[in-house]
Amino acid sequence: MSPEFILVNPQFDKHIALIQINRPKELNALNRQVMLEIKEALLQLDEDEQVRVVILTGGEKVFAAGADIKQMADATAMSMLNIDQFSTWDQIKKTKKPIIAAVSGFALGGGCELAMTCDMIVASETAQFGQPEINIGTMPGAGGTQRLTRAVGKALAMELVLTGKFISAEEALNAGLINRVVPVEVLYKETLNLARTIAAKSPVAVRLAKESVVKAFETSLDEGLQFERKNFYLTFASEDQKEGMAAFVEKRKPNFTGK
Ligand code: CAA
Repeated sequence: MSPEFILVNPQFDKHIALIQINRPKELNALNRQVMLEIKEALLQLDEDEQVRVVILTGGEKVFAAGADIKQMADATAMSMLNIDQFSTWDQIKKTKKPIIAAVSGFALGGGCELAMTCDMIVASETAQFGQPEINIGTMPGAGGTQRLTRAVGKALAMELVLTGKFISAEEALNAGLINRVVPVEVLYKETLNLARTIAAKSPVAVRLAKESVVKAFETSLDEGLQFERKNFYLTFASEDQKEGMAAFVEKRKPNFTGK
């Protein structure tokens, strides 16, 4: 069945897929269906050998104004526990291929959390980031208190989470939350440039390197270093490592196949 609230293009560009959230009237509010559709799309794209990088966007006007407040308004603690809607989000983290968020307009609450769950964020000058759940009597529930704090540090994370204020793309860049800020007209072009650079590398090395960077947030330094070392050794089981090093020695461009 085709998805209702997202658009998926597995061949947006060579080896690059695009997922676009498409609920413009609700400012791309992330209801459970949207997140299920993103999960399904990511599962498929992760298995698609042609795809090396995924771009996730909400379009040029808004990334996502958060979890769907109308859907949550009457929930009880028990219904939240039973539905466990945020478990759907785990798939984003489990995705082996790099995901780049292309953010324009509001990235609030769950929208900010969604962008932060991706591996990199390219933002347009109109982007605004925030965790305004405090304004509606709740708090971040899809990683905001953890990922934001790790990205920007305690001082700013605490301020955003406790006051609900938004920050601009420029402030987000200075705080280390995002990778770059570009004019809205070139958001896709610049995100594609980044995606193309990664898609030209060895998919095996990219996967193992991504895994290792992600690990840095979850382990002690010693465990992380052991994990990195094993992944480094593992790249030597790939044809891509042989090709990459041979190409360097022969002074030519490598042709990576993902084997
Ligand atoms: N959920 C459901 N609907 C939403 C929504 C949300 N998060 N955000 C916006 N909408 C809807 C509005 O209700 C409105 O619908 P109607 O036309 O039917 O009234 C439509 O989108 C347009 O919104 P506004 O008229 O409010 O647009 P605006 O430009 O005046 O304001 C805004 C934009 C500042 C983003 C404002 O909409 C807003 O504050 N939204 C809520 C932001 C928020 O609190 N996000 C956190 C949600 S909780 C969460 O995400 C929990 C978690 O950790 C996962």
